[in-house]
Amino acid sequence: MDILNKPSLSKARKRSKSKVDIVEYKVDEYIKDLGVGKKYLIQTHGCQANEADTEVMKGMLLTQGFEETSIIEETDLILINTCAIREGAENKVFGELGRLKSFKRINPDLIIAVAGCMPQEEATIERILSTYKHVDIVFGTHNISKFLNYLYIVMKEKKKMIEVLSKEGSIIEHMPLARDHRFKGWVNIMFGCDEFCTYCIVPYTRGKERSRRKEFIIEEVKKMIKNGYKEITLLGQNVNSYGLDFIDNKYSFAELLDELSDLPIERIRFTTSHPKDFSDDLIEVIAIKDNVMPSIHLPVQSGSNKVLKKMNRKYTKEDYLDLVNRIYKRIPNVSLTTDIIVGFPTETENDFQETLDLVRKSNFEGAYTFVYSRRKGTPAASYESDITEAEAKNRLHRLNDLVNEGYHSGNKRFENKIVKVLVEGYSKNNKSILTGRTENNKLVNFSGNEALIGNIVEVEITNAKTWSLDGKVVSNQ
Ligand code: SAH
Ligand code: SF4
Ligand code: F3S
Repeated sequence: MDILNKPSLSKARKRSKSKVDIVEYKVDEYIKDLGVGKKYLIQTHGCQANEADTEVMKGMLLTQGFEETSIIEETDLILINTCAIREGAENKVFGELGRLKSFKRINPDLIIAVAGCMPQEEATIERILSTYKHVDIVFGTHNISKFLNYLYIVMKEKKKMIEVLSKEGSIIEHMPLARDHRFKGWVNIMFGCDEFCTYCIVPYTRGKERSRRKEFIIEEVKKMIKNGYKEITLLGQNVNSYGLDFIDNKYSFAELLDELSDLPIERIRFTTSHPKDFSDDLIEVIAIKDNVMPSIHLPVQSGSNKVLKKMNRKYTKEDYLDLVNRIYKRIPNVSLTTDIIVGFPTETENDFQETLDLVRKSNFEGAYTFVYSRRKGTPAASYESDITEAEAKNRLHRLNDLVNEGYHSGNKRFENKIVKVLVEGYSKNNKSILTGRTENNKLVNFSGNEALIGNIVEVEITNAKTWSLDGKVVSNQ
């Protein structure tokens, strides 16, 4: 195993003030056609940032002649794009790596690659070196652009290799991209995170906040429009701090959103917003611009001021509720969703009640809820906790019951209303039923013609269920 660079979480914590360079992607001549006659399979775990990275890695492979397959037995390369956010996410990947051992035994030429957030942690590398010796390539989030070089070394020189960088490099523009969807797609507007919420590994696995220049973002969106895309989702760990890292100019997320919404794109979404810097300018742009969708994901994490402080979230319950009220006042039709962690060290029943109270007052129409998971290297990892697993799970169940009421009432308010739906395709469970999303990001199922796929159609909602809506087509816009 060639180990070029190993990760270090303590190095990854450092934030340099130096300017971020922008570099054009280019592939070395000797790599050309590396994949002709070869197949690949990519498994993606984690958040939208990983989904977007997978689309880049697919693009890199396809441009060198690789073909995609979903069958492990016939693939030449399997790449796992990993997530480190919770222990459960990591265990899934280790389980998968264990399962792949037998495939490698049957086909010793099978190349197994591990990428994404987990390799950014020392512990992952140690475990791969000791227990998962059948892995051929390990790289992290900062050197995706070298993926084909690593692959070349493994394929041609029959070596194994690890390279993980703990300092973010340049922003690389014009990477190849093979998008998963034909009508909606991700657009990275920034990378990394500087928030350092005390429970969270992301600032270590993704490095410092780096915003993309607006020229490149606009160019990418224009290209998507030309290719028939109807919806874009702007991506960043905290989109509200977009532009704060520019040294030579002042340009905010609200300004970017405003400028993008003047382009002829039907729908713009964004994720994720940190509540602490959700500006009134931003609320105004969402309120005024018809193509900025009225659905906001606004992770709160907890309703207890004591816990929020320990989490380093930089707002109070009152600040959050005030923001929520300002949003509802200016955008009455908006759908708010959130993320919540239960069982954070020292969270008492009273703290948890504060969270339930905040959930009731915020009228969320959906939430991702999690039991706190200790992440080695983060500040909270050293916080003492006397919350048992059973108690944390009990809180999660109670929270979910409340959250599910929000899902249902959020759907119920659309019953008998006519909504606009971007038709995405046939439903997974029923091939005669079409499925799509409303402006408020609600899932709708309805019968209709294949020709509607990719269009925005008007649908009358006939029945609201907890997780989806049923409807019938009224017109084709
Ligand atoms: N950058 C985004 C979300 C990143 S991770 C944001 O801040 O909104 C997605 C969610 O995972 C977080 O919002 C949080 O609720 C949850 N999460 C992060 N670290 C966690 C941990 N150590 N244990 C449990 N949940 C965690
Ligand atoms: Fe993690 Fe907080 Fe950054 Fe979100 S804002 S990625 S929760 S550190
Ligand atoms: Fe997971 Fe990395 Fe995203 S840790 S949540 S894949 S940024």
